[in-house]
Amino acid sequence: YTAELDAADIEKGTYPHFMLKEIDEQPLVMRRIIQQYKDESGKLKVDEGVRQAVKAADRLYIIACGTSWHAGLVGKQFLETIAGVPTEVHIASEFSYNMPLLSERPLFVFISQSGETADCRSVLVDVKQLGHPTLTITNSPGSTLSREADHTLLLHAGPEIAVASTKAYTAQIAVLSILSVDVANGKGRTLTFDPLQELAIVANAMEVLCAQKDDYEQIARDYLSETRNAFFIGRAVDYYVVMEAALKLKEISYIQAEGFAGGELKHGTIALIEDGTPVFGLITQEHVAGHLRGNLQEVAARGANTCAIVSHDQARPGDQHVLPEVHPHFSPLASVIPFQLIAYYAALHRGCDVDKPRNLAKSVTVE
Ligand code: G6P
Repeated sequence: YTAELDAADIEKGTYPHFMLKEIDEQPLVMRRIIQQYKDESGKLKVDEGVRQAVKAADRLYIIACGTSWHAGLVGKQFLETIAGVPTEVHIASEFSYNMPLLSERPLFVFISQSGETADCRSVLVDVKQLGHPTLTITNSPGSTLSREADHTLLLHAGPEIAVASTKAYTAQIAVLSILSVDVANGKGRTLTFDPLQELAIVANAMEVLCAQKDDYEQIARDYLSETRNAFFIGRAVDYYVVMEAALKLKEISYIQAEGFAGGELKHGTIALIEDGTPVFGLITQEHVAGHLRGNLQEVAARGANTCAIVSHDQARPGDQHVLPEVHPHFSPLASVIPFQLIAYYAALHRGCDVDKPRNLAKSVTVE
């Protein structure tokens, strides 16, 4: 008699699912990224070729799909506010049909966990033919997108097995923040924060968040056990995070979920709010906090079951969950974790196959 042991089960260790293991690995991945992107003197550094390529460009075009596209949206925020580099973010599959008028010196940045996504590769082939420089940000050294692009930045997240991406998303955001800071340094821009120190604080905050699993399991029970649908709202960078929150939930729990810009709600979507509809509001940015709270009140007045997840400095009595303190620039790295875990528990309670959701593949090699 030989026990049937699946190699994959051994790698999971004591975890019931890869997704949960990968969520828990995020603090470690942050620390690994900090190590990988600093020089002997402890200063942040990226590959010289990448630095020169960004410096030579007058505009970056980020191309990605799914979760990687959501990371790209956060990355645009960094590149524009920290580094002052104009940046556009495009869904790979749409890019060829709706190719924007390109700037004079574009740099194409492909963000792909697997480095194999066909929709991205198709754009890569096209823009290379046009003679434009390319950079791939990926978790997979030696992947197609990495081999075929001029430059590569690695995520160092370790293998991601669960179909729903978690640690690769936060690694993508961290690497994009490092790239932005490096470009800012090269331009002599003064920064008001120490990026490596802030990322170290993020890693600690992630640990705190990962230790609060019981809270997220309870939120999933309270808000998502009965529902058919759920809404997530945010403004500014929180909007990008709630789009990812909604994607996580729909991918693995099959609850119909949408991430919205708080201000856009009243222009249509609010018609869908019924008694008991769950609406999650993310509030981490001071300049939009008041408006987002107003949006939560509007939906609550129409019967929604609201859940406010807020940063430390924006917390008010009655908020359902308060996030540990991180620099506002880096807030997506912390604020996404409750949503990853809420999605995980919602899927678990519904008996869904968390690691291998129906109809989805980890890497999509068809267009
Ligand atoms: C698939 C996965 C998504 C992923 C997307 C992009 O659709 O199911 O989770 O975000 O591909 O993958 P990539 O490897 O290019 O980041």
